[in-house]
Amino acid sequence: MKELRVGQIGTGFMGRTHSNAFLQVPHFFKTGFKPVLKSVCSLDKSLQEYADTWGYESIETDWRKVVARDDIDLIDIVVPNNLHHDIVIAAAEAGKMVICEKPMCMNMAEAEAMVAAVEKAGVANMVSFNYRRVPAVSLAKQLIEENRIGRPFHYNAVYNQDYTISTNVPMGGAALWRLDSKVAGSGVTGDLLAHSIDLAEWLNGPIARVCAKTEIFVKERLHVESGKMEKVTIDDACAFIAVFENGSFGTFHSTRYARGRKNHNTFELNGENGAVFFDLECPHSLQFFRYRDPETGEKTPDHIVGWQNIHVTNSEHPYMGNYWVPGTTIGYEHTFINNFAEFLSAVNEGRDYKPDMRQAMRTQFVCDMVLESARTEKWIDLL
Ligand SMILES: NC(=O)c1ccc[n+]([C@@H]2O[C@H](COP(=O)([O-])OP(=O)(O)OC[C@H]3O[C@@H](n4cnc5c(N)ncnc54)[C@H](O)[C@@H]3O)[C@@H](O)[C@H]2O)c1
Repeated sequence: MKELRVGQIGTGFMGRTHSNAFLQVPHFFKTGFKPVLKSVCSLDKSLQEYADTWGYESIETDWRKVVARDDIDLIDIVVPNNLHHDIVIAAAEAGKMVICEKPMCMNMAEAEAMVAAVEKAGVANMVSFNYRRVPAVSLAKQLIEENRIGRPFHYNAVYNQDYTISTNVPMGGAALWRLDSKVAGSGVTGDLLAHSIDLAEWLNGPIARVCAKTEIFVKERLHVESGKMEKVTIDDACAFIAVFENGSFGTFHSTRYARGRKNHNTFELNGENGAVFFDLECPHSLQFFRYRDPETGEKTPDHIVGWQNIHVTNSEHPYMGNYWVPGTTIGYEHTFINNFAEFLSAVNEGRDYKPDMRQAMRTQFVCDMVLESARTEKWIDLL
């Protein structure tokens, strides 16, 4: 096994999921690589404690020093969105592999520069759309590819949370940078719908047209850094309708004001032969409606047709053969382990990994066009 020397930038929520995944990946997958946690960088006071917890050999407070080190192969970018562009480009120019969290960046102009940099440098790269690697979501992909859904008619996605309902939630600063458009780029569109759009195009092909509406429910919030009330300019909620290139019709909805919803990420695809429904709050289940079998062309008899709940824990299911025995579940953190396993295996075997920066740029484009449609109150063609 080759050593993969990692430099991580950012030690928050995603820093922890990625550190865990680097450490766990060789326990469950043969990728040809053994990650070694060389250096970690952030602005957090607990940086040394973080390094000790996860086993990083050294700490830095200037990300450029991590990128410049000769003994690091891969830069892992888990910082707020406004920093992705500069770090990706510097890492590519230094010849490092890059893992970057989603959303890829702030806008298409940044995305184009990032793709140009990684492609010019020829460095392996990925954007972390980890929900593709939920076994139940990968199984949905498999069922679609096996033609068990058939001609698609409807794709509906929802991604709702509720943590910004209170007018007292401030914006900006370490914890609430997602509410500050200068740091986040956009609100729920980049933060949550980027996931829904990535999954939608992966499962159901390119979106051809969008028509969107956004809303800001709380117009002013206290900014942590300025100490003043400031205008809120992120989208608190976004809904859009879409037409896919394959002719199917889509609806997408996301808000951080859905009382009771914490990370309610669902999609449903309804086709001629069947349907699939997934809900991240029941991550080990895939709901499947089997109307007609592609192998025989036979319709499921009327007295047994209905939604079936597939408990996605059999060793034949995506990724599950790498874990425990059938019937035992895995969790959120495993989506990152699975994702890193896919990436490192692809690098080891000289294969392309998807979604790389180029594919993630497409998601950035759709997000930008959704926001543009909401701003202009017009349909926008994407193809
Ligand atoms: N894939 C997913 O489902 C998912 C989930 C959550 C977050 N994310 C993405 O991950 C990224 C990080 O989000 P998070 O929730 O971990 O944020 P966070 O606020 O928990 O952590 C951000 C970290 O970045 C560090 N940081 C900020 N500025 C820095 C600088 N100039 N130099 C070095 N470090 C700096 C902070 O000190 C902190 O450790 C974002 O792009 C976010 O959209 C993805």
